[in-house]
Amino acid sequence: MKNIKNLYDKYVLPTYGREELTFVKGQGSYLFDNQGKKYLDLYPGWGTGCLGHCHPYMADELKKQLTELIHVPNNYYNISQAELAQQLAELGFHGLTFFCNSGAEANEAAIKLARKFGSKDGRYEIITFYNSFHGRTLATVTATGQEKYHKGFAPLPEGFKYVEFGDIDALTSAVSPKTCAVMIEFIQGEGGININNIDYYKKIEILCREQNLLFIADEVQTGIGRTGNYYGFQTFNVSPDVVTLAKALGGGVPIGAMMAKPQYNDILTPGSHASTYGGNPLATRAALAVLEVFKKENIIDNVNKQSQYLFNRLKSIKNETSLIIDIRGVGLMVGVDITVPASEIKEKCRKKSVLINNIGKNTIRFLPALNISREDLKKGVDVFEEVLKEAWQ
Ligand SMILES: Cc1ncc(COP(=O)(O)O)c(C=O)c1O
Repeated sequence: MKNIKNLYDKYVLPTYGREELTFVKGQGSYLFDNQGKKYLDLYPGWGTGCLGHCHPYMADELKKQLTELIHVPNNYYNISQAELAQQLAELGFHGLTFFCNSGAEANEAAIKLARKFGSKDGRYEIITFYNSFHGRTLATVTATGQEKYHKGFAPLPEGFKYVEFGDIDALTSAVSPKTCAVMIEFIQGEGGININNIDYYKKIEILCREQNLLFIADEVQTGIGRTGNYYGFQTFNVSPDVVTLAKALGGGVPIGAMMAKPQYNDILTPGSHASTYGGNPLATRAALAVLEVFKKENIIDNVNKQSQYLFNRLKSIKNETSLIIDIRGVGLMVGVDITVPASEIKEKCRKKSVLINNIGKNTIRFLPALNISREDLKKGVDVFEEVLKEAWQ
């Protein structure tokens, strides 16, 4: 077998820190490497694998689509794009959708929509939050309120301001005559699973209404079931003007979406924004298959059941050891702050065939498949507990 690492070293730009694992097969919450070893994956595809790996219904639908039609550009209609846009509206965001291929692109579209919305009266500034994460394109990385991601890329696009997440006064005073939008992740995912109480989000919505600002929800990570509702805004009981989606929407097939309420449907007019691949038949059929499985298999119920189990288990581990400092999150998006280096815990879990995600130095993030079974989740938490206790002794 070829030495994959050598090929990477020679031919692939080193933009990622990679673990020395080469996966060749996936099934449900399990991955199989090229040595035949089986791993329980507790964060399939960084949140994209909402149905785990290679769900049979999705695979069948994609096989059919592959032989019918893979791609037509957006100067034609395609059936699954229209049906998907309809379903996204019927799931609770009554708006119109622009399709693209990733979270960054969805946010880029939202930023362009906000800029054009504000351009009528000279407004262009977008307020985002420290520790947020909105993507890696130049505009979305600038929207990201983390300096480490900005280094070396100056000059960054103008018009982004950051405020403390959770501080409504800071947000209120940051609004200027040039502000056109506020962009928020209800739960900061990459920034550490940071979450606020429900009143805070309502206050942001009210501020946006009072100041005529677009309220943009980046639901790339929270969207499509992760928080125990189809949309995070349903969990946090607010009504954003714009919602962006990616990750779970395609169940691992690249797709992004930017949805806007109908009153904003005349801003991005023909020619003002586009994507060659956006919403193509293959990607939208994948997303339709995801949503079909959600209904058939009661995935939202499963999220709420498994979430309760996960929180209970983590709380009892916290009570037994002094190694867990904090447990945060909603649904199956859970962060655990620990006193030992998270990378060591991750490494030890990997040796016991469980893949777990660390963010920052001391946080473990659980983002399991939304259809994970109790048995698999228990197995994963058992290993996490075992590894933590070993570190404790
Ligand atoms: C909240 C949020 N927004 C945007 C992005 C960027 O998405 P993508 O990597 O698909 O461009 C991410 C990725 O992790 C994310 O978590």
